[in-house]
Amino acid sequence: MKRLISFSFIIFMLSMSIVQSQTVYDESKVPNFKVPDALLTFKGKKINSVKKWEKVRRPELLHYFKNKVYGRIPKTLEIDSYTVLEEDSNALNGKAKRKQIALSFKHNNKSLSFTILLYLPKEEQNPPLFLGYNFYGNHTITNDEAVLISTAWTRNNESFGIKNNSLDEASRGKRTHRWAIEKILKAGYGLATIYYGEVDPDTNDFSDGIHSLLYNKNQTQPKPDEWGSIAAWSWGMSRALDYFEKDKDVNANKVIAFGHSRLGKTSLWAGATDQRFAGVISNNSGCGGAALSKRKFGETIEKINHSFPHWFCDNFKQFNNNEEALVVDQHQLLSLIAPRPLYVASAEEDQWADPKGEFLSAYYASPVWDLYNKQGIEHMQMPKVNEPIHSTVSYHIRSGKHDVTDYDWENYIKWADTFVK
Ligand code: GCU
Repeated sequence: MKRLISFSFIIFMLSMSIVQSQTVYDESKVPNFKVPDALLTFKGKKINSVKKWEKVRRPELLHYFKNKVYGRIPKTLEIDSYTVLEEDSNALNGKAKRKQIALSFKHNNKSLSFTILLYLPKEEQNPPLFLGYNFYGNHTITNDEAVLISTAWTRNNESFGIKNNSLDEASRGKRTHRWAIEKILKAGYGLATIYYGEVDPDTNDFSDGIHSLLYNKNQTQPKPDEWGSIAAWSWGMSRALDYFEKDKDVNANKVIAFGHSRLGKTSLWAGATDQRFAGVISNNSGCGGAALSKRKFGETIEKINHSFPHWFCDNFKQFNNNEEALVVDQHQLLSLIAPRPLYVASAEEDQWADPKGEFLSAYYASPVWDLYNKQGIEHMQMPKVNEPIHSTVSYHIRSGKHDVTDYDWENYIKWADTFVK
């Protein structure tokens, strides 16, 4: 009997853990939870002015996200040197000026460099630009044969012809559909991109990438409150901005941080930590990006920390299956971007990223834009598919899957024309 009870108890416990880790795609299963108020301090004080927001609330939220979610950067590290590897004022059939610039960093007898691919519209002086990472190397975003191929570690991808974790000609142009270069240039914007693996390879290994340059003696991995990979990639975006401040061909005051998916989480964190970014775009960023964690819809904190243990700081693991303990939610990450323009975009078939949670996050962040008399998302009702809301805080849900499409770029350009340019 005893044996029978303990056996059924084990089966019960096992089924519970399976139930717990099942992915919720049903709105009726979203738990009730209190959305933390962006304008109420941790001590319960109401924030009703820009001054109080900037002096009290913004810093405490930023501090919390640094220590508990993305991880703080242990030291400052500036560009040691940069080299223009290549430039051509007649690129893309005469439509663009192209530059490829390597930024180098040195510390602890170690060095790291990453390369920015920059296209600028030929007719414009000091144009604004979109800056965003790519997943498989700068040469994948275009068929332009002059784009240099990265030698950094890359995830294999059969359909892109990527083998042995290294890149070659086979993958050139494989991701052109995600980068509407012609549209961007025609609208008078520049485009800058970096292969994210050059800043930190996307593996659960902290011996490589930028982290190791900033270790203390005998340190082999970040401390529980120190930077994971998302914070490392965001750091790289800020260093690219440092470079733009030195490059007279670009307008460093008008750089928009763009990113898709894990790199959308990255652009949001870059915009939150570096107020020099003039605007931020989150394309399908989902869990740990724009989506509210407490909804536990689609990907959850537990799932993301399980599959990608290196993306956030170790402290974030305290919230695995324990969202209640989080005193913030992702709308407060978005609020750190105020009063600058922010665009959150979802895709209908991208339920893993919780489109409704991304929308609500933009909605709940909006009172902070109101403080600055800027227009956020005013209604809690989600717009219909392919009916964008354009204001300082913009949102759309387009038809289709997890991706970046021309439709997304057309909307980003329209929004940038009005709110950033
Ligand atoms: C996975 C991950 C997401 C992430 C996505 C991506 O699906 O679970 O959190 O956004 O990869 O970066 O493509």
